[in-house]
Amino acid sequence: MSRIPQETVDQIIQQADIVEVVGDFVTLKKKGQNMWAPCPFHHEKSPSFSVSPAKGIYKCFGCGKAGNSLQFIMDIEGIGYVDALKYLARKYAIAIEEEVTPELTQAQSEKESQYILSNFAKDYFHDILLNHEQGKSIGLPYFKDRGLAMPTIQRFELGYSLEAWDGLTAKALAQGFQLEFLESTGLTIRKEDKKYDRFRARVMFPIHNLSGRVVGFGGRTLKSNDKTPKYVNSPESEIYHKSDVLYGMYQAKQAIRSQDLCYLVEGYLDVLSLSQGGIENVVASSGTSLTEGQIKLIGRYTKNITVLYDGDAAGIKASLRGIDLILEGGLNVNVVLFPDKEDPDSYIRKVGDTAFKKYIDTNAKDFISFKTELLSQEAEHNPVKKAEAIREIISSISKIPDSIKRAVFLQRCSVIFGIEEQVLLTEYNKLMKQERPKPASPTIPTTEPELTPQPEDEVAADDAILLHHEREVLRLLVNYSAHQLPEGEPFLPYLLAQLEDIDFKIPIHARLITLFQEVVKQSSLVSPDYFINYPDGEIRQEAISLLTDKFELSENWETHQIFVPRETDMLQFAADTAVLRLKWRNVQQMIKENAELLKTEKDFPEIMKIMTLIKTLQQYEVEIGAQLGVVVVR
Ligand code: CTP
Ligand code: MN
Repeated sequence: MSRIPQETVDQIIQQADIVEVVGDFVTLKKKGQNMWAPCPFHHEKSPSFSVSPAKGIYKCFGCGKAGNSLQFIMDIEGIGYVDALKYLARKYAIAIEEEVTPELTQAQSEKESQYILSNFAKDYFHDILLNHEQGKSIGLPYFKDRGLAMPTIQRFELGYSLEAWDGLTAKALAQGFQLEFLESTGLTIRKEDKKYDRFRARVMFPIHNLSGRVVGFGGRTLKSNDKTPKYVNSPESEIYHKSDVLYGMYQAKQAIRSQDLCYLVEGYLDVLSLSQGGIENVVASSGTSLTEGQIKLIGRYTKNITVLYDGDAAGIKASLRGIDLILEGGLNVNVVLFPDKEDPDSYIRKVGDTAFKKYIDTNAKDFISFKTELLSQEAEHNPVKKAEAIREIISSISKIPDSIKRAVFLQRCSVIFGIEEQVLLTEYNKLMKQERPKPASPTIPTTEPELTPQPEDEVAADDAILLHHEREVLRLLVNYSAHQLPEGEPFLPYLLAQLEDIDFKIPIHARLITLFQEVVKQSSLVSPDYFINYPDGEIRQEAISLLTDKFELSENWETHQIFVPRETDMLQFAADTAVLRLKWRNVQQMIKENAELLKTEKDFPEIMKIMTLIKTLQQYEVEIGAQLGVVVVR
């Protein structure tokens, strides 16, 4: 591990002025002692985000995010402690001398070399586009022809690669770059004793990572009839992991956060045209199908994605695949399809910026309407097709991790298809059963229990699920500790009472529960501030983080006429569900552990004892499962 010396850390934190640091991201206005702005972490119109120059901290009274300059950078850039320190060090021109261990030096210098070389190549291609004969007579006119103006070309650092075998390779070698890195970044291809440029006679699109460093390239040919592929792309490398990168993210991230929405398109040109047209919150998956990593990346900036794909069959298919993946990632998804033969780039150029914006606003459909319309033409007079369509939609709904949202969408589906909700629920439960591991049957296992050794990552996945369920309970506690249920019963004691027989496995969770149990003795309504300002830093951090996990539906939803109840209106339901989930998980875990014991136990009476216990647990599991089935989707 590389380490930044403590003196440097102190120096950075001391110099980083909260107003300056935050001021790079939002426009602060002075009011009284503090400065105010609309919160960059959640969607809002009136400012509840405050900065205190005196205390050197920020705090949002809407979403609860709070911290110092360093924390702000970590949160807003979605980066870790060390990277945030480096960010501030760059801003304040503080030199960091990292203490680096020898093993890492190798890997780091490999990566660093690739970054430096990629940056060199980007500058080289850009220079050729603007200053070289070929760039000026071929590359630049091509971009102009496609409607791209100079500011866009500059902002995205577009370039051109010469019609020559080794333009870049020769230049880079002459500058002292090593062939090894030219090869490992894929810029140079080596075959036997020949070496040549991967990108030749193409317009070049550099691909940036989140901090704006170039990690790879796409190159488009200008010939339309040729045997040469339309696009050539950099291969994976130490610095370029395709499944975690989205084209345009670096340029779009600020706009995505402030609009609380990300447009997802397919191609480089789509990003460029839309961005130039004033729709800056746009990124591209670049032809490959969308990945989980890419969705996570977007999820750091917004929970709302609108997919803008071609209206042709391939585009529709890609949208459908994307929808389920986005839902699984816990994000909200809308879809806009363009008329046949049009993609976002061609369409915005055809109708202009204003009409384009209007088009996407009026044509954005939530996934149910999208799927319904897609399937409804054939389904209308064909009951078999109709059943199929409904199953399709329910299958998408089942991907949504959040139970409240799931319930709402099921309701909506029932209205659209004019089918009783109960019928849909039955269908839904059937699907869930297929997807879940088989529910354990409440009979005594006659032979060995059906268990294979657990591969490592499955165990890790178990932990993650447990963490998630425990956290959900705590999130409700922290967020609604001052709330009351509709009948006036205070929420905190209501939920705590249900937790009495549950052991929280994650230590910090267990601590928080104990603390809650103590404070509730004094008062049944507890302000979330109590834990935000708690003297113990670990508790404070956890509380802040739980508060900022907040379930929040953006206003986009309302504009699409989806009725979504607010979590506060369904607090009891949310609590009951969360507790049942956690219990269910714990019981399943206990069954697993006991089955594991059974494998090695030789003593017969002991075996009988464990088997009886497993049987009881399995009955309990079925009971909870049944309750959940009813509760989850009622
Ligand atoms: N793509 C690719 N390799 C190909 C074709 C496409 O990597 N052989 C990727 C590129 O990232 C491209 C995206 O898929 O931007 C979308 O492809 P397409 O719609 O064919 O290209 P456009 O970007 O729309 O380019 P153009 O408008 O110039 O046809
Ligand atoms: Mn196109």
